[in-house]
Amino acid sequence: MSASITAPDFDFSRYVRDRARLVNDALDRYTPTDSVHPTVLHAAMRYSLFAGGKRIRPLLCIASAEALGGTTEDVLPTACALEMVHTFSLIHDDLPAIDDDDYRRGLLTSHKKFGEAIAILAGDALHTLAFTTIAMHQQAAQPTVIIEVIRRLALASGTLGMVGGQVDDIASEGKAISAEVLRSIHARKTGALLNAAIETGALLANASEADLVSLQRFGEQVGLAFQIVDDILDVTSDDATLGKPTGSDEKNDKATYPKLFGLEASIGFAREASDAAIAAIRSFGPAAEPLRCFARFIVDREK
Ligand code: IPE
Ligand code: IPE
Ligand code: MG
Ligand code: MG
Ligand code: MG
Repeated sequence: MSASITAPDFDFSRYVRDRARLVNDALDRYTPTDSVHPTVLHAAMRYSLFAGGKRIRPLLCIASAEALGGTTEDVLPTACALEMVHTFSLIHDDLPAIDDDDYRRGLLTSHKKFGEAIAILAGDALHTLAFTTIAMHQQAAQPTVIIEVIRRLALASGTLGMVGGQVDDIASEGKAISAEVLRSIHARKTGALLNAAIETGALLANASEADLVSLQRFGEQVGLAFQIVDDILDVTSDDATLGKPTGSDEKNDKATYPKLFGLEASIGFAREASDAAIAAIRSFGPAAEPLRCFARFIVDREK
């Protein structure tokens, strides 16, 4: 599986399938079973975790490590922690008090299935399980590196990152905001965690300062492209394909790229960001091919 990656015959679908399987198996190991008390809490955590997400954040963490000669095994607990934080953010994002959506990953949202109280608590529990998982299982690195990984994940998830971005996302509902503010909301609510995936993978693979800077630039652009495309798909896709309701942004009068710039220009911005991401790692060799494929996939995806 970890055979060296050579660009011309690189099979991205197979890469994603193989690594996602390792991530899913590890998530299963790290998450208490639903026979453990309180059973409803563990059932709710597992329901959302295993509902079929794309696993982009753990896969980016792995791909970032591999670009620098690391392996999946080196980063697996951190990769899983990223998915736990992401899944927590989705459960809370769907709550009636935030986006009020009924479907996620092709299933009823957590609050529809388990009620609001358990959904809130399942999100809280996934958040703490993320850091527990790193503290207990992320062993293949120096303690100082592990502390830095925890610091980056915490910063990306918190007031300066995802949670802060979500606050401004809500505050922008129904308002005309500038392109600069919109970019900042997207960079924090979505970009920060994607960037943390790239950074933590790189740190665990002992990145040099120069490699880290290039990968951060890659992560910023990929993060922006990702949320622009998420905004576009909310307009152009259908519920069955996405596994979540389209039209959610219009319903909530959210500030989005299509609302501010129109669809055509938004697609252009997403492509520009993806191209800039790929350019940022142009000096990297064939081991960075999965990262390049992710940058393309993020704009070409249908869900
Ligand atoms: C959706 O993320 C929420 C955003 C941050 C835009 P994904 O599109 O990665 O969702 P899953 O994990 O595949 O369900
Ligand atoms: C969500 O953005 C970002 C986070 C969950 C932090 P959206 O509200 O656009 O995500 P979707 O479209 O519901 O997945
Ligand atoms: Mg939202
Ligand atoms: Mg939402
Ligand atoms: Mg969206």
